[in-house]
Amino acid sequence: MDVISTKSMLSSLLQRYQKQGKTIGFVPTMGALHEGHLSLVAKSTSICDVTVVSIFVNPTQFNDKNDLANYPRCIEKDCALLEKTGCKIVFTPSVEEMYPEEDTRQFSFGNLDKVMEGEHRPGHFNGVAQIVSKLFDVVKPNMAFFGLKDFQQVAIIKEMVKQLDLNIEIIACPIIRENDGLAKSSRNQLLDPKHRVIAPKIHQTLATAISKTNSCTPNEICRWIENEIDSTNVLQTEYVQIVDYETLEPIKSFGAQKAIICVAVWAGKIRLIDNQEINPKINKIKSKRG
Ligand code: PAJ
Repeated sequence: MDVISTKSMLSSLLQRYQKQGKTIGFVPTMGALHEGHLSLVAKSTSICDVTVVSIFVNPTQFNDKNDLANYPRCIEKDCALLEKTGCKIVFTPSVEEMYPEEDTRQFSFGNLDKVMEGEHRPGHFNGVAQIVSKLFDVVKPNMAFFGLKDFQQVAIIKEMVKQLDLNIEIIACPIIRENDGLAKSSRNQLLDPKHRVIAPKIHQTLATAISKTNSCTPNEICRWIENEIDSTNVLQTEYVQIVDYETLEPIKSFGAQKAIICVAVWAGKIRLIDNQEINPKINKIKSKRG
């Protein structure tokens, strides 16, 4: 496994593989790797010849200075974990390497970045698009792997690939959870014990909410989830929204379209996100008929 920190060295190494006709799979990360990240690496190594993982805590996507300062960094441990996967190249650039000058590009994603994370973290998705487009430009992957834990990010990246007319297949991978249901996240290690113990309530509440989709409206379910989580008096919801799976427009009733519940929850000073898909009613009828 090669650990590389400059774009020029990465490009020349990758050109060699590309000339040999090898397919390149790419997993962008901010490090502090856990099984969620490693599941993306495993997916990539299972279908691509060469897997590249980037580790870069991207300053332009943090709208909160403290969050950026406190973000866990442990490159050596990360590389040791990646050694055990089939990853061939780890790219660990510096901020100067990725941003030799300020990136002033402004992306526009219509409704996709106006709601949920986009609404509550101004500039976040513009920063994500800046860094992912720069990384795509150097790695030139055939496929790139993203986790559905960051459901809205996947929608933004797919839209960016369309807008920039890139020939990159975006593969969305399922959420990996702790045994108690908490979605794995690099930020979980920052939770204090009081918050860690109650944090699985987020997933439990979303999973229970699914059984209410036959009898309640999306709005009623959102209020119920808010109440369940906030009444712990330890967790505090920032938003709870049920949106169309493709357009991310809020939905007013459950019908034939696939939807998703997305939440952001404060656990003390740590902000956690999670989501739960809601399958279209038509599928339920079909599956009942067998
Ligand atoms: P990061 O939070 O490190 O996540 C890297 C990738 O791992 C993302 O695609 C994310 O969705 C995925 N991931 C994280 N936790 C997961 C889990 N529990 N199950 C499945 N996948 C999970 O997302 C970013 O970094 C950055 O925004 C990045 C795309 C690297 C751009 O800076």
